[in-house]
Amino acid sequence: MIGLLEAFTRPLLRLLDPEDAHRLAIRALAIPPFVKLVADEPRLAVRAFGLNFPNPVGMAAGFDKHAEVPDALLRLGFGFVEVGTVTPVPQAGNPRPRVFRLNRDQGVINRLGFNSEGADAVLRRLAARAEGGGIVGVNIGANRESADRIADYVRLIETFAPVVSYFSVNISSPNTPGLRELQQAKVFDDLLARVMDARARMSRQAGTTPVLIKIAPDLTLNELDDLVGAARQHHVDGMIVGNTTVRRPPGLRDKPTASEAGGLSGRPLFPLATRMLAETYVRVEGAFPLIGVGGIDSGATALAKIRAGACLIQLYSALVFHGLRLIANIKSDLANELRRGGHAGLDALVGADAAAMTAERWPS
Ligand SMILES: Cc1cc2nc3c(=O)[nH]c(=O)nc-3n(C[C@H](O)[C@H](O)[C@H](O)COP(=O)(O)O)c2cc1C
Repeated sequence: MIGLLEAFTRPLLRLLDPEDAHRLAIRALAIPPFVKLVADEPRLAVRAFGLNFPNPVGMAAGFDKHAEVPDALLRLGFGFVEVGTVTPVPQAGNPRPRVFRLNRDQGVINRLGFNSEGADAVLRRLAARAEGGGIVGVNIGANRESADRIADYVRLIETFAPVVSYFSVNISSPNTPGLRELQQAKVFDDLLARVMDARARMSRQAGTTPVLIKIAPDLTLNELDDLVGAARQHHVDGMIVGNTTVRRPPGLRDKPTASEAGGLSGRPLFPLATRMLAETYVRVEGAFPLIGVGGIDSGATALAKIRAGACLIQLYSALVFHGLRLIANIKSDLANELRRGGHAGLDALVGADAAAMTAERWPS
């Protein structure tokens, strides 16, 4: 069914401006009921952050920014969905065009700049489906014009704690000027203190909602040392590695498009993001689990992320190039790998290659 639909729609969607195509995809997913949920193989189940994931493949932040279709995405086979980024107050983001496909490189550049319908609209939607089950996390970000960005994160924790499975604290979008400065040691320490305090205050009415930090793949290893040190000290529940990159790998072929400003994702991001994941894994020393994101477009790249240190994975850009059947393909490849190795679950593979990867030449 999914395959049939896609055969007709994907070539058409590719003719559209990427943002119009995305809007159309959200509209289509919003038509209920889309597809029936099929149960996952038990060996794909993952327990992390106190949550039970039916499978490790998540929808990355940025696809369902306003929480319009989390349940449709879960029915399509994702093990979890991260909605957002949501900002406290609605904001329009940057002027269009602001999303670009690099077809030959199978990459995407975006400089959306946190276009968000704002916390109230997203809260209404999440509250309406909160009893529906399934793991839905919210990715939170500061308003561009905010005078106190940390206060924005605190406010969003207070707003969403009762209705979400986890928080992803986004301090790594390259498209809000100054946002990545929250990754600097002193500011980051302050951010974590206030965010974890807000989470603790909310736990009386909402239970303890896991807090994950989403970092940039562009950090230096010294910066990563500081971030991981602070994250361990403040007992965060996990990290997501990572967001889009402002770098442009030398081999990119879609030349004029590659020079557009913004964050690059998809296949060209894979080497850098996977290396940063391995570097994070060896520094975390098992203190908390990691979600691996960036350039996953097959069972093999999903497995490489897991072996680099991820117990869960997320993807976005590859859906543009490979369509929805990618989700089922990745899950079946991972299950086959586990069966072949005689493993009952993915635990056995998490981080198996991390140390070796950190000894390799730095990816260009
Ligand atoms: C169009 C687009 C919008 C995105 N918006 C967000 C966002 O709002 N918040 C966020 O944390 N990441 C956002 N991302 C980054 C993704 O969540 C992910 O970290 C990145 O794209 C790498 O994964 P991929 O290579 O599988 O796409 C966005 C990515 C794309 C392509």
